[in-house]
Amino acid sequence: MEGVDSFDPTEIQAGKTMKVGQPPGLYVHIPFCLSRCGYCAFTSSIYDENRADAYIEALRCELSTRSVFDKTTLPSTLFIGGGTPSVLTPAQLGRFFSYLPMPAAGGEATCEMNPDSATEEKLALLRDAGINRISFGAQTFSEQGLRMLGRRHNAEQIAEVAATASRLGFSRINIDLINGYPGQSEEALLEDLRRAIGLGVDHVSSYNFILEEDAPGYAALSALAGEEDEEWGRRCWEVTEEWLCVRGGFHHYEVSNFARPGGECAHNVAIWRGGEYLGIGASACSYLSGRRCGNTTHVGEYVAGNNSGAWSECLDGEAAARECAVFWLRLYEGIDLEIFRRRTGRDFFDLYSTQAESLIANGVMECQGGRIRILPEYMPILDAFLVDLV
Ligand SMILES: C[S@@+](CC[C@H](N)C(=O)[O-])C[C@H]1O[C@@H](n2cnc3c(N)ncnc32)[C@H](O)[C@@H]1O
Ligand code: SF4
Repeated sequence: MEGVDSFDPTEIQAGKTMKVGQPPGLYVHIPFCLSRCGYCAFTSSIYDENRADAYIEALRCELSTRSVFDKTTLPSTLFIGGGTPSVLTPAQLGRFFSYLPMPAAGGEATCEMNPDSATEEKLALLRDAGINRISFGAQTFSEQGLRMLGRRHNAEQIAEVAATASRLGFSRINIDLINGYPGQSEEALLEDLRRAIGLGVDHVSSYNFILEEDAPGYAALSALAGEEDEEWGRRCWEVTEEWLCVRGGFHHYEVSNFARPGGECAHNVAIWRGGEYLGIGASACSYLSGRRCGNTTHVGEYVAGNNSGAWSECLDGEAAARECAVFWLRLYEGIDLEIFRRRTGRDFFDLYSTQAESLIANGVMECQGGRIRILPEYMPILDAFLVDLV
């Protein structure tokens, strides 16, 4: 994988503080949106300028107290997600970038933006601040689908913001799509893929529609969604692969992610390979020195400096190694056995002696060239195999 091969093994040994070969990635959560989409259970509330001002100050505070980064230790990658980072005003974005540590030159720095709030002024401001990758939440190009999902933009705006971002010099652009949402037809799915390919972006995330009980539109959407249809789920997978990979020149590198060569999201790939990251903001999680922790999901408490909803766990060596394996197997490249051993202190085949043997014997897994992977034809039912490896 071009663009992510330079990832330096960090040799994390679970549960112990150690010298890390490469600095962690940095994730920042912006928990504000102009309105809530019915299907979305991410931590977010309606944007209010004063609350957002206070939140930006709270992020500054958290960054200075976590003291992971300084002038000499910069994050290897940055991902600003939400919520909707693009709801922040230019003045707020300016204040935020005045203290945010950016990756060293060449390091990937992504910001999520919604098509209805990604103005040319904000895109230029992000570019000048060092953001070099934009992730737009498109979801679908079907006007009916957009309305049903509660989106504020139309299909034309998706094409416009992608074109504006390209014109401003962004060569790395992702489009998020949702497949299998209630009422989506196969024609609508094909049209989404055809239009996503036509944008000339280097990355597409295609998420299978999920409805969680705490999503704001759970009641209405579950009535529309009906029973889970496995056959339609499989068809969505096949059609998405056929269009993005065979016709579009993308490669499927993770369960929900497709990239043109070199377009893989280095931030997420590092995490799937068990790399460290600091997450700041309400609900953000971190993984540092073998410890996982998460902040309060309550924005008011976060701003007030009360992180009482926070949690933290230190996995023992074996649990950490298993978790690393389960994450890494989401990548089509599979696990590099030598790096896995150095990073977790465990040998993959000692950890999974019987399971690995049977998965290989049954033709589900393949071990070749120092890597072990789930074969592509079994990736649509990956979770069924991962439950035995947790
Ligand atoms: C953290 S969200 C933020 C994106 C951004 N605010 C937007 O809406 O454009 C990132 C992506 O997760 C996906 N997503 C959110 N909720 C989902 C759900 N219930 N099912 C499938 N995908 C979902 C959407 O594709 C969304 O763009
Ligand atoms: S999908 Fe995006 S815009 Fe919609 S509620 Fe979730 S974070 Fe906000």
